Amino acid sequence: MTDITKLMRPHLVKVTTYHGVDPTEELARLAGIKPEDVTRLNANENPYGSPTSVTDALKDIAVHLYPDPEQRKLRAKLAEYTGQPVERVMAGAGGDEIIDLLLRLFTEPGQKLIDCEPTFGMYAFCARIADASVVMVPRKDDWSIDIEGVLDAIDDDTRLIFLASPNNPTGNLLTEQEARALLDTGLILTIDETYYEFCGKTLCHLLDEYENLVILRSFSKWAGIAGLRVGYCIGSETMIRHLMDIKQPYNINAAAEAAAIAALDNRDEVLERAHILVEQRKRLEATLNELDGVYFYPSEGNFLLCRFVGRSAREVYEGLGKRGIFVRLFEQDRLEESLRISAGTPEQTDRMIEAITEILSGSH
Ligand SMILES: Cc1ncc(COP(=O)(O)O)c(C=O)c1O
Repeated sequence: MTDITKLMRPHLVKVTTYHGVDPTEELARLAGIKPEDVTRLNANENPYGSPTSVTDALKDIAVHLYPDPEQRKLRAKLAEYTGQPVERVMAGAGGDEIIDLLLRLFTEPGQKLIDCEPTFGMYAFCARIADASVVMVPRKDDWSIDIEGVLDAIDDDTRLIFLASPNNPTGNLLTEQEARALLDTGLILTIDETYYEFCGKTLCHLLDEYENLVILRSFSKWAGIAGLRVGYCIGSETMIRHLMDIKQPYNINAAAEAAAIAALDNRDEVLERAHILVEQRKRLEATLNELDGVYFYPSEGNFLLCRFVGRSAREVYEGLGKRGIFVRLFEQDRLEESLRISAGTPEQTDRMIEAITEILSGSH
């Protein structure tokens, strides 16, 4: 028998994979409850989904035809939404695909990406797949970027820096001053604004000054279409032209394209639901403020990083799990006491508040 692993690219044979979130049915099976009793607050999804004005657009799709490889209609809408020329925008199958494309475009094996943990794991994952090296410059205690540390870490092999703003899971923003300091290095800086619609804060205006900046956005969170996989990026014309050249021709499927366009056409209604999530995050914050044994970090996203004192995050995670509530637990040492809780509907927030109050008062 041929050992086919010997034929594989060596760096991929034992690659550390990325574990995405399990489907609701699997969460229910693990918790021994019914799928309808699962409260899913572990992936920063929009529990409202998208309104019928968006889902209706899925009814008339010509599924027998290939979608537009040039993404003409969607790019035109994105250009209008972002106030950028159409030549500066491109859609991807989720922000995830664009992260992967950036690694493919800018790194050769062994070249470096700078990553600032704790942050979204997909930057390091895509680097591993591309055989790029990840140089980790940990965030400071207040989760801001160690700019000096990043500048010191740069050498001739460094190509890219990835920073999320708001950052997942810490919720804080990158400042303009920090972004400029990094852009002035001339390296490719990706500012990942996946959670932009929850805070309205962007560094898009820097695109006019810096050819090496790329802004990443997503429809997964605010627009409630994570299952359809649509994200986009804004960059210089040159950057976008080259990304368009290397993407899979039909990366945005017909359903994804129709839903993303409908979300932009009905943006007020879609955004209303995103704003409810921000209200619910604030409600959760107000309750946690009253409880002993838990702190949270200020967040600009639809999630809250909570730190528990005197008990491990796993203990709280398991207590919530027993009640059918799923949140995000982390493996990193620095987040050993922390859980990330996604903002939910008012009913989900009621359930969360009741459960945390019970757990912190000693009932498991
Ligand atoms: C910071 C950040 N960037 C990108 C993504 C990927 O989003 P998408 O669903 O568009 O691939 C996520 C998803 O959790 C995220 O938190």
